[in-house]
Amino acid sequence: MSQSTTGDIRSAIRSIPDYPRPGVVFRDITTLLGNARAFRRTVDEMVQPWPGAKIDKVAGIEARGFILGGAVAHQLGAGFVPIRKKGKLPHDTVSIAYSLEYGLDEIEMHRDAIAAGERVILVDDLIATGGTATAAVDLLHRIGAEVVAAVFVIDLPDLGGAEKLRRKGVTVRTLVQFE
Ligand code: PRP
Ligand code: ADE
Repeated sequence: MSQSTTGDIRSAIRSIPDYPRPGVVFRDITTLLGNARAFRRTVDEMVQPWPGAKIDKVAGIEARGFILGGAVAHQLGAGFVPIRKKGKLPHDTVSIAYSLEYGLDEIEMHRDAIAAGERVILVDDLIATGGTATAAVDLLHRIGAEVVAAVFVIDLPDLGGAEKLRRKGVTVRTLVQFE
């Protein structure tokens, strides 16, 4: 990816200190989404390694992964599958619990959303500790999906999530990094 593209994407992301709590710098992608040029470039870069590849489904993680994942699915000619926080999906689901900084959370998807052997790209806006994405990959593996890659706009490398996913054998693509 060219330095100017990385710079354009990076500078379109707004950083908000001490949100949602003191000491956290929140990386806000609403400014990127609202910038037509930056949004288009971001989606183009997310799919760049897979031109013409057969991808059956894009799985997006609630909530910001829905916005980016929908655009990525359109670009790849793939279907879109939402991975949601527990209790939001109306049909038969498969779910997985994972640890947060304090306590547990749970994500789920419809059991029939992806058939065994389908090729899937996982999408979210950001990977931090990797807890959410690792749980999503485990869920996809559990239903027999082939996880071709996990793609994120933002990596917070100090928190080790992308590295954790790579150690599990997942191909990880991230576009910009923040401390
Ligand atoms: C954010 C982000 C990822 C997750 C990354 O979502 O969009 O899904 O945190 O953190 P992790 O790598 O430490 O798991 P959040 O939980 O804020 O949910 P939201 O998108 O519904 O606001
Ligand atoms: N999710 C986890 N850490 C985050 C951060 N710093 N900014 C935005 N979303 C996040």
